[in-house]
Amino acid sequence: MCGIVGYIGNREVFPILLKGLKRLEYRGYDSAGIAILNGDLHVYKKAGKVSDLEKHIADSDVTSTIGIGHTRWATHGAPNDENAHPHLSQSGNLTIIHNGIIENYASIKTELKGRGYTFHSDTDTEVLINLIEEIKKQEKCTLEDAVRIALNQVIGAYAIVVMDKNNPNQLIAARKGSPLVLGIGEKEFFIASDASPIVEYTKNVVYLDDQEYAVINRTGDFYIKTLGNVEKSPAIQKLEMSIEAIEKGGFEHFMLKEIYEQPKVIADSLRGRMSAVEGWIKLGGLDEYINRINNAHRIIITACGTSWHSGLIGEYLIEELARVNVEVEYASEFRYRNPIINSSDVVLAISQSGETADTLAAIELAKERQALIYGICNVIGSSIARVSHAGSYTHAGPEIGVASTKAFSTQVSILILIALQIAKHKGTIANSKLREILYELENIPKKVEKALALDEQVKEIAAIYKDAPNFLYLGRGLNFPVALEGALKLKEISYIHAEGYPAAEMKHGPIALIDEAMPVVFLATNQSAYEKIISNIQEVKARKGKVIAIVNEGDTEIKEIADHVIEVPATEEILSPLVTIVPLQLLSYHIAVMRGANVDQPRNLAKSVTVE
Ligand code: AGP
Repeated sequence: MCGIVGYIGNREVFPILLKGLKRLEYRGYDSAGIAILNGDLHVYKKAGKVSDLEKHIADSDVTSTIGIGHTRWATHGAPNDENAHPHLSQSGNLTIIHNGIIENYASIKTELKGRGYTFHSDTDTEVLINLIEEIKKQEKCTLEDAVRIALNQVIGAYAIVVMDKNNPNQLIAARKGSPLVLGIGEKEFFIASDASPIVEYTKNVVYLDDQEYAVINRTGDFYIKTLGNVEKSPAIQKLEMSIEAIEKGGFEHFMLKEIYEQPKVIADSLRGRMSAVEGWIKLGGLDEYINRINNAHRIIITACGTSWHSGLIGEYLIEELARVNVEVEYASEFRYRNPIINSSDVVLAISQSGETADTLAAIELAKERQALIYGICNVIGSSIARVSHAGSYTHAGPEIGVASTKAFSTQVSILILIALQIAKHKGTIANSKLREILYELENIPKKVEKALALDEQVKEIAAIYKDAPNFLYLGRGLNFPVALEGALKLKEISYIHAEGYPAAEMKHGPIALIDEAMPVVFLATNQSAYEKIISNIQEVKARKGKVIAIVNEGDTEIKEIADHVIEVPATEEILSPLVTIVPLQLLSYHIAVMRGANVDQPRNLAKSVTVE
């Protein structure tokens, strides 16, 4: 996934592009570049981070009021200067930035080479800008027409912005399968992959739909057309995001800020959607389809990564409370294994970004087979939100850290409400029990606050084990997905190998790993399997393993046998993931910081995997 940003108007463009790229860097950060027009077309691009690009440009004259910028996560071609965007056409007149993949670029490249084109990079993007140039030349048409014709010929996903050296009063932007937002100011326009580079300048935005393009003119007018050349009236929306929401707010890293935001964003995700006093739950999209959901043959939850872990929790919740058959599928597997699915199925698609390619593809497949699609997304106006029949936004606010934390917690909060709402309608939960759980759910933000207060203790434990080569995370029932999530957090930001397992699985292999160098994190809060967990801990201790146990406040038994005990506030078992995940997030964060890892932008990762 890459970040793209563009501007045309009456301000100096360079600071807008640079700040915008820094805000988008979480989307990809292996190279960056900008192109500006001031009489001539100037392209500056460099492997490395946006800060490296800034140094590279330091002494250049970047005076201009029109320009485009790009921060890359390499898909075609190594992350080096030549493959960095923007890319120029052969004539040097046209330049482009692109987020996505052109799947048929190789055949187009061969065709263009046959017509005398040469290429300086390995990218699909350079092929696209030369295709546009060739069409413009052959058809003797406008840049707009050439872009539209070219996009009708390419296969794949794109969000692009194109600029013409000979027309400093126009930008052309287009999208298919990758997000693009148009910010509308006073005789000025902003284009970006998401709203974060735009929000401080204007709150009026238009989200381009797939296979649409926008022609933006410095005069202050713009229009949107489909690739079928049909003009569309733009749906101007008001941005809800605030600028402080995307700053670090005094925290050293976005990830830590977002861990600490969890009490607030859990409350935000519940606000207006439940009342413990009156015993109601309101989820707009769900309520509209509640009969179809209640009569569903089964519910399929599909997602990737952390969102798949919250999906596993959703499975436990819905089956336990609503007695509906649930299957959880990795989207990347589901989309290719020709699943048996039809109109009696309901698909819950979970995605923070709302742009994950595999999850989008899984939805398309299920939709083709008439299943009902319910999206649980964090980014308003994202692709998954738009292709779903109904859904709920998690209202976690922008999650900038690549490691997902508050998105996980708010996804779980929404899944709890969904499970309770279905159970209520199916009559599988007594009203008194429902209200008891809702009261406790209202109380959860305070319990998460208390769990956050364990930060110093967790930091001390992190210092002891920061150099361990491997970790095991073990849990039973609802704590098994929490164990998986804790392991993912550690491995993706500290680069320590970590695995999550059902605690009972120990005997089927993992116990062979146990020795004095192996820290084992036990999630030991569930009362339903407490004695079993104790025996699992004893098995580890008997083999000299180091045990870090997450237990309920006041637990005395495990304190006697574990090496470290972290006491979290006790709560209803079905709500416990919202509390038990907190020390695991903090543990991974502190270990990563102590190891000098780049917490917010871990190596090889991007915030959202919008390409396969
Ligand atoms: C989680 O920490 C990772 N960054 C990653 O697994 C992420 O959850 C996954 O890529 C899914 O992203 P999505 O929720 O935006 O679809």
